[in-house]
Amino acid sequence: MGSENLQYQTGFGNEFATEARAGALPVGQNSPQRAPMGLYAEQLTGSPFTAPRSLNRRTWTYRIRPSAQHKPFRQIDNGLWQSAPFNETAVTPNQLRWDPLPMPKESIDFISGIITMAGNGDVSTGTGIGIHIYAANAPMQRYFYNADGEMLVVPERGRLIFRTELGVLDVSPGEICVIPRGVKFRVDLPDGDARGYICENYGALLRLPDLGPIGANGLANSRDFKTPVAAFEDVDGDFRLAARFQGNLWEAEIAHSPLDVVAWHGNYAPYKYDLSHYNTINTVSYDHPDPSIFTVLTSPLDTQGTANVDFVIFPPRWMVAEHTFRPPYFHRNVMSEFMGLIRGRYDAKEEGFVPGGASLHNCMTGHGPDAESFEKASNADLAPDRYTNTLAFMFETRYVIRPTRFAMETPALQKNYFECWQGLKRIF
Ligand SMILES: [Fe+2]
Repeated sequence: MGSENLQYQTGFGNEFATEARAGALPVGQNSPQRAPMGLYAEQLTGSPFTAPRSLNRRTWTYRIRPSAQHKPFRQIDNGLWQSAPFNETAVTPNQLRWDPLPMPKESIDFISGIITMAGNGDVSTGTGIGIHIYAANAPMQRYFYNADGEMLVVPERGRLIFRTELGVLDVSPGEICVIPRGVKFRVDLPDGDARGYICENYGALLRLPDLGPIGANGLANSRDFKTPVAAFEDVDGDFRLAARFQGNLWEAEIAHSPLDVVAWHGNYAPYKYDLSHYNTINTVSYDHPDPSIFTVLTSPLDTQGTANVDFVIFPPRWMVAEHTFRPPYFHRNVMSEFMGLIRGRYDAKEEGFVPGGASLHNCMTGHGPDAESFEKASNADLAPDRYTNTLAFMFETRYVIRPTRFAMETPALQKNYFECWQGLKRIF
């Protein structure tokens, strides 16, 4: 096998240059008549060619064989992975919540372990997201790329080793990673069982949000994002390359490892981020800011201030607000909210929302703290209080989130979720 080097380059969307063999990167140009070391030069472009410079993303790879070399793809079974448009069921305005999905008993890899819970938009026009939960226990014996969207992976249980064309990422619960559209990879599971959440983003590439009056620093800082250095496999054999394309899975035979990039330079690459580095900003006087204050990454829409999806976290933090109801206030929004829990407990729910589980509150659906949390928070001593054992997140999107038939029919769907608000007393 080739090299393996668990080293990272820092910064979000930087122009990186990395070589696993010294001298593999050409100097002063991208595609010389003959690339160094007999490598093939190939560009991977993740934005329209003419995107403004600040949004333009591409990477030049120098590889043992070009990506064109494989046998024809044929369609294979999609399993429980579904893609937009999501039209299987009439979308309910009810609040929805799910228990964690059970871990599989049979051997299943990261790709086959993807189960779609919900989504929105249209994969063919590049809008919206797919929301999946993965539960896997076996290393991938094949390679894969997703042409439909970038994959934001949020592990809840078990480490993931992403071996990608552009290097190796080691991702643990409490960290996230993003694998860009088109980047080939396979996943090893060093802990065996692994479970977590995926936002498959069909829309604009995830980026750091603008900070406005916050200034130059804060929220997720660019320097804490990590992109792998070049690492490659130099192996021939009977391999399979799977692809997600227009909502279906395809597979082709390939006679070599496609993770054969010896060197690359560019700003289109996988990255990971440790959520414990998040600089959480909250009130130091009164009232709970809108949840957008906790945005880690955003995929904007063309309408200003509107997101295809925001990835938002509720991390450990101090609560210091004066004469304020401290948990999230009761609310209804035009934005729709899919939540998951990585560890601990979420401050608006005393029970029922557990790690690996999920909830969905769609456009204009009323929600907020359950009766028990409301009672507790209304009578709490408002001394500074540190929330330690908690890490929840939200995929928040402008488009209504449409659950799959699986999500509406699984026994994990909590039929009694509405009851958590029924005990709220009239106190007028
Ligand atoms: Fe909410």
